[in-house]
Amino acid sequence: MKIGIIGSGNIGGALGRHWTAKGHDVVFGARDPNSPKVRAALAEASGARVASPDEAAAFGEVVVLAIPWTAVRDTLPALGNLNGKIIIDPTNRMASGPGDAPSAAEDIQRLVPGAHVVKAFNTIAAEVLAQPHFDTGKVTTFICGDSAEARTTVIALANDVGLDAVDAGTLANAPLVESLTRLYMVLARNYGRQIAFSLLRR
Ligand SMILES: NC(=O)c1ccc[n+]([C@@H]2O[C@H](COP(=O)([O-])OP(=O)(O)OC[C@H]3O[C@@H](n4cnc5c(N)ncnc54)[C@H](OP(=O)(O)O)[C@@H]3O)[C@@H](O)[C@H]2O)c1
Repeated sequence: MKIGIIGSGNIGGALGRHWTAKGHDVVFGARDPNSPKVRAALAEASGARVASPDEAAAFGEVVVLAIPWTAVRDTLPALGNLNGKIIIDPTNRMASGPGDAPSAAEDIQRLVPGAHVVKAFNTIAAEVLAQPHFDTGKVTTFICGDSAEARTTVIALANDVGLDAVDAGTLANAPLVESLTRLYMVLARNYGRQIAFSLLRR
């Protein structure tokens, strides 16, 4: 697939590396194409390119917002027309304000109503996403979004990362998925950051 990744830090860089290894076409969208983060991401993601954020968004059938939540509101309008695109939201909103939607993902969907917003990857620490293999089972990422077709696409992309992608339904469930990050942060204080959620089923 053609994937535009806005942000080339821990999360954007790791996703780009995993997806290029699986044959996807990745363009990183960066404010500064010569920044150390961009150079590191390009060095690891074979065949990936860097462009401006709006060019990367125009390129992608799928666009990942791998940027801080605090940058999302200002960044989205600069990405151009996102209608019909799948927007993956891995952000973690640590505080909400008056008038905010119950989740960051629903806020993003309000800002880009013509796009298909899908929450994913937010509950996985960067250290785990970089190397998601555990001997004891696959790391789960919970996927939610209002378009079933978009969820299916993101589930396939998450599987390409080596994750166990679990369909968590519509965007109304995003507050639940986002709250898991807060649980993760509590658990990481006791167990360290090399931990991850995994959904058992039979
Ligand atoms: N770190 C984790 O463990 C983790 C886990 C799950 C989800 N997340 C979420 O994933 C997102 C990315 O986190 P990260 O750890 O990858 O962060 P990061 O390593 O700090 O990278 C952030 C990226 O966003 C760009 N950026 C920062 N401020 C920006 C702005 N105002 N406008 C446009 N781009 C901006 C940075 O570009 P510059 O280099 O130009 O500053 C950089 O490429 C966050 O929303 C975070 O909550 C993080």
